[in-house]
Amino acid sequence: MLHDQPIAYLNGRFLPLAEACVPVLDRGFIFGDGVYEVIPVYAGKPFRLAHHLQRLANSLAAVRIDDPHQADEWTALIDELIRRNGGGDQSVYLQVTRGIAPRDHRFPEDSRPTVFLMSNPFRPVPEAELRDGVTAVTLNDIRWEHCHIKSISLLPNILLRQQAIEQGAAEAILLRHGQVTEGAASNVFIVSDGVIVTPPKGDCLLPGITRDLVVELAMEHALPCEERAIPEAELRRATEIWLTSSTKEILPVTRLDGIAVGDGQPGPLWQTMIGHYRRFVDALRQEA
Ligand SMILES: Cc1ncc(COP(=O)(O)O)c(C=O)c1O
Repeated sequence: MLHDQPIAYLNGRFLPLAEACVPVLDRGFIFGDGVYEVIPVYAGKPFRLAHHLQRLANSLAAVRIDDPHQADEWTALIDELIRRNGGGDQSVYLQVTRGIAPRDHRFPEDSRPTVFLMSNPFRPVPEAELRDGVTAVTLNDIRWEHCHIKSISLLPNILLRQQAIEQGAAEAILLRHGQVTEGAASNVFIVSDGVIVTPPKGDCLLPGITRDLVVELAMEHALPCEERAIPEAELRRATEIWLTSSTKEILPVTRLDGIAVGDGQPGPLWQTMIGHYRRFVDALRQEA
């Protein structure tokens, strides 16, 4: 960070985060009417930016908010935010809401989307979590039917994550109609009979950028990998379970609902995959 405090961007202006304010009638505040992205930054470079911008465009189209920027404008804004926050490793949070209007469910006719970006520190996953893995619990997926949209309305996810934490777990693995969907803020992979398996993309889960990269890396390195439904029983007998997200990368789950996953240690395929992932990130660092 170049300054004493993080620099944010709000509707055309870079300013200290503490000074960034939106009016209470912003539909993000009133309704949770908006979408967002979280983009990891390594060595000053936004990671998989084109993928994040495509998902942002998809989310905006799905909720019918006009995309306020072209991809090259988003790229310039994000690069400038990273620069103003000192480069290095960061995590960029980007949010677009439907804008400010008198409170009414119907779309306002003439509101302008609110555009907000901030930079958070990129906190590497603690060594202990990588060494020992984390605990997860299964919970009923109480969310809506459009989980592929990266909506800022995260109340169900918040309640689920909190419930997991209160049960001593790091994450909730969600089940809908007897099948795994994803985590409260992550995608889920299992290893079943030596095969890496993750649920297919669709309305029931967020198309994670990290998820897609893990599938890509599996293919590139000829590791057996399938995108298909995971019944609850298969989750429970998996020899490995992983959680993926932009900020946690690939996290091994070593206890599920209080029972050891496999031998209770991060598994061999996780070791292989995290190695491929790290090398992929490091190659980009070298280019920076
Ligand atoms: C519900 C949900 N699923 C999956 C993910 C992982 O997505 P990504 O890998 O793009 O961070 C997230 C990220 O926050 C999430 O909130």
